[in-house]
Amino acid sequence: MNDAVSCPVMNILGIETSCDETSAAVVRNGTDVLSNIVKSQVEIHAPYGGVVPEIASRNHLANLPYAVNHAMKEAGMDWKDIDAIAATYGPGLASSLMVGLSTAKSLSWRLGKPFIAVDHVAAHIYSAFLGENSPLFEETIPFVALVVSGGHTSLFKVEEDRNILLGQTIDDAAGEAFDKAAQLLGLGYPGGPAIDRMSRGGNRDLVDFAEPRIKPENQLIGELDADLCFSFSGLKTALMYYLKDHFQGENDGFPASVSASFQEAVVSAIVKRSARALEVTGTGVLAVGGGVSLNTRLREQLEDISKKMNTRLLLADPDYCGDNAAMIAGIAASGRCMSGKEAMQLDVQPSINYIAGTQIANCK
Ligand code: KG4
Ligand code: ZN
Repeated sequence: MNDAVSCPVMNILGIETSCDETSAAVVRNGTDVLSNIVKSQVEIHAPYGGVVPEIASRNHLANLPYAVNHAMKEAGMDWKDIDAIAATYGPGLASSLMVGLSTAKSLSWRLGKPFIAVDHVAAHIYSAFLGENSPLFEETIPFVALVVSGGHTSLFKVEEDRNILLGQTIDDAAGEAFDKAAQLLGLGYPGGPAIDRMSRGGNRDLVDFAEPRIKPENQLIGELDADLCFSFSGLKTALMYYLKDHFQGENDGFPASVSASFQEAVVSAIVKRSARALEVTGTGVLAVGGGVSLNTRLREQLEDISKKMNTRLLLADPDYCGDNAAMIAGIAASGRCMSGKEAMQLDVQPSINYIAGTQIANCK
C-alpha cells in the first residue's frame, strides 16, 4: 500500500481545502471529471472582508464529509473503484490545509489505497487541461503557465520534469489587489467578480493608473527577470488617493469608470508579462488558471495577444478556475506529484518558495 503511483491511472478522489472552498472530486485518468463538488464559504467570510482562517477550518471540518460523499455518489463510485486519494499539502492556510490533508491520509490508511500529495499552484496550472476537449498535459509540454489567483500571481515554464518559475508578484497577488480595490470602492467581498461586473459599463480610460515597474536591482526578485515580475500594491495606493481626491458620489458612472480603469491596469500588467514570457521562452502555448482567470477583460485581452503572437491559448474552463478538487485529482494522475511513504509523512506547507530555476513540487 501507498506505493508510488504510476501513470496511466485510474479513478482518483481529490480533496482541496487550502483556503475557504471545501472541495472533493473524482477524476478518471487525469482528464475526465466525473464529479467536482465545491462548497463555497464566501458568504460566511464576506462580513469580515476576507477569509478568517479559524472560521474556514471549522467549516472545512463540517463540510468535507458531505463533499466527499457527494463527489463519490455523483461519480457513481464505490470505494473499491477508487485507485488513489489526493489532497493539497500547500501553499495555503495552515489550519485549512490540515483538514484536507489529514482526511485524505486517513482515507488512504483505512482503504489501503495510495496517497498523493499535491502542490496547489501546480494544480492550478493543470486546470487548463481538465475536461474532455482539452489537450493532454504531457503532449503540450513545453509551455508557459500563468497562475492568477487570490494568493498567487506567477509565470512558469512547464518542462518535462519540472516547472521553472519565471516571475511572480513581489507584494499583492492580482486577486488580492482586486479584493482590496473593491473594498475601497465599496463593492464588497470577493472583490474580483464585483469589479468585473462593475467595470462593464465603465470608461477604462478615465484614470491612467501608472503601470507598476520593478527595478532589476530590487532584492525581492532575486534572480528573476524584473520584467516578468508583478507589483500591485502601488496600484491599490494610487486608487486610494484617487478616490480621496475625486470621489463625487455614485450617480454619474464614476465608480464604474474608476473600477474599469483599475481593472485595465491590473489586466494590462498581467498580459504584458505573459507576452514577454512567451517571447523569452520561445514556447507557443500559454495555459492560464486561478480565480482571476475568470475575469472577462483578462480573458479578452489574453485572447487578443494570443492571436497577435500566434500562440495557442489554453484558458481553464470556468468550473476549474477557482479553487476546486478536480484539478487536484487531475494532476495527481500525472506522475508529477509526491506519493508513497514520502507523501504520507508530509506535513502541510502553508508557504512554498518557488525559487527561479527549481522544481515547483517534488515531481517524479
Ligand atoms: O483561485 P482562487 O479561487 O483562490 C486562490 O487560490 O486564491 O482565487 C480567488 C480570487 C479572489 O481574489 C477573487 O476576487 C478572484 O479570484 N476572482 C476574480 C474574478 N473571480 C474571482 N478576479 C477578477 N475577476 C473575476 N471575475
Ligand atoms: Zn487557488
